[in-house]
Amino acid sequence: MKKAKIRILIIILIIITVIAGTFIIINSKNTNQAVKPVSETKEDPLITKLKNEKYYIAKNLDRYLAYKENNDYELSKIIADVNSNLDKKRYEDVTETDTSNYNLMLVNKYYYLTEDYEPDDLVTLTSKYNLGANSKLRKEAANAFMKMSDAATLDNISIKNASAYRSYQYQVNLYDRYVARDGKEAADTYSARAGFSEHQTGLALDINNVDDSFENTDAFRWLQKHAFEYGFILRFPKDKEDITGYQYEPWHYRYVGVETAKQIYNENLTLEEYYAYYIENKKST
Ligand code: DAL
Ligand code: ZN
Repeated sequence: MKKAKIRILIIILIIITVIAGTFIIINSKNTNQAVKPVSETKEDPLITKLKNEKYYIAKNLDRYLAYKENNDYELSKIIADVNSNLDKKRYEDVTETDTSNYNLMLVNKYYYLTEDYEPDDLVTLTSKYNLGANSKLRKEAANAFMKMSDAATLDNISIKNASAYRSYQYQVNLYDRYVARDGKEAADTYSARAGFSEHQTGLALDINNVDDSFENTDAFRWLQKHAFEYGFILRFPKDKEDITGYQYEPWHYRYVGVETAKQIYNENLTLEEYYAYYIENKKST
């Protein structure tokens, strides 16, 4: 009887030992998996490719991935579109622009100026440089424009302002007139809603004739070659309509300063792309 009890006890002990041993082995395997060395963890190849793109912004990674789900574009376009906020709703998902960026402030369908915003250093262009009623620019931009116009004159080219600074209220009336004439959808392709026009910055202007025919003039060709040397960029280029949100405007130029204009020109960027990568991104890193 006693011997039988001891035998049962031994069997129970063996069973307990086997169960405990198995449990320890399984557990140690799981733990090993959880703490795999970093060198062994594999990154999604798509993420690696995105990170290798020139204008990749780390904080936009989730947005790139979400945008890619619905858009079968090249990765450079995914990056450019998301950096330019195309995954957001125009005129709805909006932020007040940071006017302390001065020459580099971004005003578009996502970044707006308040109704009462008016630059405090507007100067009026004289008739030598001006054709229209909206003849004011911020001081630095005005000086640069006059310098550019003088240089063009030496090449027998006439470059004059047709429309520069426009107040919020002026833009209300202008946009409303276009909507009455062409309807809202069409007006939105060429005219900014009040608060969303960079004419309100005092840093943008339309040159000579506000018409597609301007593209075929010597003045336009001269600007294509020289505008960046004076700190101006063609703000709404032909092949970037989706990024800027506006149809091509060969007559509309924006002052950003010489250094930035050169970089934008050399890298073939819009102000949207430049701002996202070189201003906003650098601020947050
Ligand atoms: N035509 C440009 C987009 C404006 O209205 O500001
Ligand atoms: Zn314009």
